[in-house]
Amino acid sequence: MYRTHNCGQLRATNIGEEVLLSGWMNKNRDLGGMTFIDLRDRYGITQLVFNMDDDADLCERARKLGREFVIQIKGVVRERSSKNPNMPTGDIEIEVKELNILNASKIPPFTIEDDTDGGDELRMKYRYLDLRRRPVQNNIIFRGRLAVETRKYLSEQGFIEVETPVLIKSTPEGARDFVVPSRMNPGMFYALPQSPQTFKQILMVAGFDKYFQIVKCFRDEDLRADRQPEFTQIDCEMSFVTQEDILNTFEGLTKYLFKTMLDLDLPDFPRMTYDEAMQLYGSDKPDTRFGMQFVELNDVAQGKGFKVFDSVELVVGICAEGAASYTRKQLDALTDWVKRPQIGAKGLVYVKCNEDGSFKSSVDKFFDQDALKAWADKMNAKPGDLLLVMAGETEKARKQLNELRLHVGEQLGLRDRTKFNPLWVVDFPLLEWDEDSERFHAMHHPFTSPKKNDVERMLNGDHETMKALRADAYDLVINGVEIGGGSIRIHDRDLQSKNFDLLGFTKEEAEAQFGFLLGAFEYGAPPHGGIAFGFDRLCSVMNGADSIRDFIAFPKNNQGRDMMIDAPSPVDQEQLDELRLDLKGEA
Ligand code: AMO
Repeated sequence: MYRTHNCGQLRATNIGEEVLLSGWMNKNRDLGGMTFIDLRDRYGITQLVFNMDDDADLCERARKLGREFVIQIKGVVRERSSKNPNMPTGDIEIEVKELNILNASKIPPFTIEDDTDGGDELRMKYRYLDLRRRPVQNNIIFRGRLAVETRKYLSEQGFIEVETPVLIKSTPEGARDFVVPSRMNPGMFYALPQSPQTFKQILMVAGFDKYFQIVKCFRDEDLRADRQPEFTQIDCEMSFVTQEDILNTFEGLTKYLFKTMLDLDLPDFPRMTYDEAMQLYGSDKPDTRFGMQFVELNDVAQGKGFKVFDSVELVVGICAEGAASYTRKQLDALTDWVKRPQIGAKGLVYVKCNEDGSFKSSVDKFFDQDALKAWADKMNAKPGDLLLVMAGETEKARKQLNELRLHVGEQLGLRDRTKFNPLWVVDFPLLEWDEDSERFHAMHHPFTSPKKNDVERMLNGDHETMKALRADAYDLVINGVEIGGGSIRIHDRDLQSKNFDLLGFTKEEAEAQFGFLLGAFEYGAPPHGGIAFGFDRLCSVMNGADSIRDFIAFPKNNQGRDMMIDAPSPVDQEQLDELRLDLKGEA
């Protein structure tokens, strides 16, 4: 027997009991006559005491224990003379009678503490040590519980969890596929799923009615804080539903998860159309924890002789409440910030609304006090506020101002990590015109249905009409993070064929790639739709964290490498030969 209790369990009620504990040596304090050790496991920390007067040999052995040694002790629970109210076990300590070293440890390359001295790369290489740290361990435990609660809720709602295959055929979800060579079919490749999209639709044709799966998805795309090459979705699909049914079901799931995991009651989620989101925030995933909505200023800012404004499509600004106190240096820094290549703006115009009702701007030469007052009135600005204005081609100017809004919001402390603002963004365009390739792309994916009223226009409209088609497609956004996305699907073979046609697939290509789905649509496909949540993102947003990596037990770094197992890695020539892969000596 290794233990009678774990390291987070013993309380004052256990005083006098003889116990066995096992765990890791967290800290060792030698006070001459006495040695104190903090023994750690997943459940907590318990203080051990070794007394020189009682057993000098034992005390001597305890002193020599290194950090992260795995030990077992036998001892008696006693009341602590100086209690620690910050620890659940802080009322007691263990007077140790026997010590057994179960395994020694090398000195860890970084400290196993809440705030470690280890850099990112080192922590990734020794992920098993990083995972011993309390905050990281708590994140992974949170994730596990979130999965259990998700399964509980969806099962109670009648959803069936079905596993779909991992070795599949390429599905165009917008990113590159990871491919796997097939030994038994030389020269042929499987693709890893970017999502189980077509399978869940087939499950609806098969009559499963409500499907879900907590499932790994794989996308070969550039990595960022909220993107990993393999990530997890809560993937769902339902039959005989409208968009309204899906939004309600998954608003229900989200509220349930916030309540059970964080004890928070979320109010009903507001909804905003894609067009509104772009106009008011310049983003389809606005952070609505704070205001600073865009105000378009063309009518008051153009025609006053300021060339930068006069020739552009859009002049648009935000009002930063109480920020007129920004110094010249701070304003210059903001201007430099938007001029960085990542943002790419040509410049930034500011107007300080002074407390005395006057204005001071970077364009005083062109705009008199009355003109600036017209801006301020339009933006509902008060004395003490700061107006930040950008101009350019509509899409670009909005995108740049969105970045600036988030940056200033962060500076002003408006992006409160303990506040949660969910939002449904609805009515996405069906298609997106790509100037470079001169073709349409699916805004969500090729299986998304146009709105009922737009079906006729889609079947018979001209090129310009196609750009205006709206879809029954929706995203769940929380605090500016896209948590989930989905749509009502096309379930009619002809309409699906038309969509493939618009997306530039020839009949043969559509048949070769999606013949199975088009075929299934000929055997009684019910109307259906669904959604997928990014599970990793949900974990990080619920915890106010910046990176999804902290919620993935074994994440990849920004180069897509697993530093611990050192993958990807070359394979033997023999393996390549078996797969009939000729790398032309490049491996
Ligand atoms: P979509 O592509 O919008 O939709 O993906 C759904 C959600 O998955 C999360 N996500 C990611 N999370 C981490 N790393 C990534 N690389 C990554 N890519 C996406 C996001 C996103 O909202 N089949 C459709 C869903 C449907 O239509 O039902 C799909 O996959 O949070």
